Amino acid sequence: MKIPSNISALLVGITLTLVSLWIGQNHGLLPIAASKEAELVDELFNAMMTISVGLFLLVQGVLIIAVFKFRRRPGDLTDAPPIHGNIPLEILWTAIPTVIVLLISVYSFDVYQKLGGFDPNAIGDSGAVQVAMLPGEELSTPLINPSKTNPTHKHLALGIGASPEAEGKPADLVVNVMGMQYAWLFTYPEIGTTTGELHVPLGKDIQLNIKAQDVLHAFWLPEFRIKQDAIPGQESQLRFRPQRVGEYPVVCAELCGPYHGGMVTKLFVENQQDYDNWLHTQIASHDPGQTVIALGANPPSDTDFLAPFVSELGVTNEILQQLNPHYPA
Ligand code: CUA
Repeated sequence: MKIPSNISALLVGITLTLVSLWIGQNHGLLPIAASKEAELVDELFNAMMTISVGLFLLVQGVLIIAVFKFRRRPGDLTDAPPIHGNIPLEILWTAIPTVIVLLISVYSFDVYQKLGGFDPNAIGDSGAVQVAMLPGEELSTPLINPSKTNPTHKHLALGIGASPEAEGKPADLVVNVMGMQYAWLFTYPEIGTTTGELHVPLGKDIQLNIKAQDVLHAFWLPEFRIKQDAIPGQESQLRFRPQRVGEYPVVCAELCGPYHGGMVTKLFVENQQDYDNWLHTQIASHDPGQTVIALGANPPSDTDFLAPFVSELGVTNEILQQLNPHYPA
């Protein structure tokens, strides 16, 4: 086998690197990044994309070259050379991925920490260590060492908390989020108003306290690259700083029932003036989302839920009754 000269190997290496770097920055796979957090996540994703493209091209390139270069020629009936492996080569192709995976894990740990995903003080306060016990039953071994629990730290272990810069500072705006089959409800504790859409001011530190009323849901903001389970009986948190005015989808990302796919709403990032105006209209009307709350307390029947679609598609009650004899007239 002819060993490629250093020059051509170098040229191939440079080309592979440039192509990988270009694709890593221009893959177009991600939606708009609407927060600082999203940019951190995207840099990590782009780095992994660059490495993956480089490895893909290298491995597939060697494979394709080998298939053509070492194919059986017409009339060649000899056995192939008996090759039993190559220890240095095997060490090399084990060591390289190991180093890559270690670097990526350190990098992602760093990103997660910058997002506020790690809170070393949170463990003791987390509901995650609560254990259901029968009356009279005692825990033989305490789950938490009480001396390690610092009662002054009231952080949540679940979700994304304050970024290291905002650590210990209260968020600029706190909104309570309630997930239920099949809607998101947003309560602004300051003014006591409840809405079905989330409005937040640009550039502020936003904290969402997320709960679920019935089953597991997941609060997902694709443009902000954050997602958090909404869990009945346990609060979780998402903290982020929007840095782009716009209208973004809020999606439920956990299969929560037959209309899970319809559990979407909108997040509006507005400049302070627009946000204040919106807030004033909310205070002025002060309709604390009565219809929506009633809806939550009394979940709609399938018939109620489907009614708007029925009229839109031109499906009549008669047709539905023919399909399903239990359908109410
Ligand atoms: Cu809620 Cu899916």
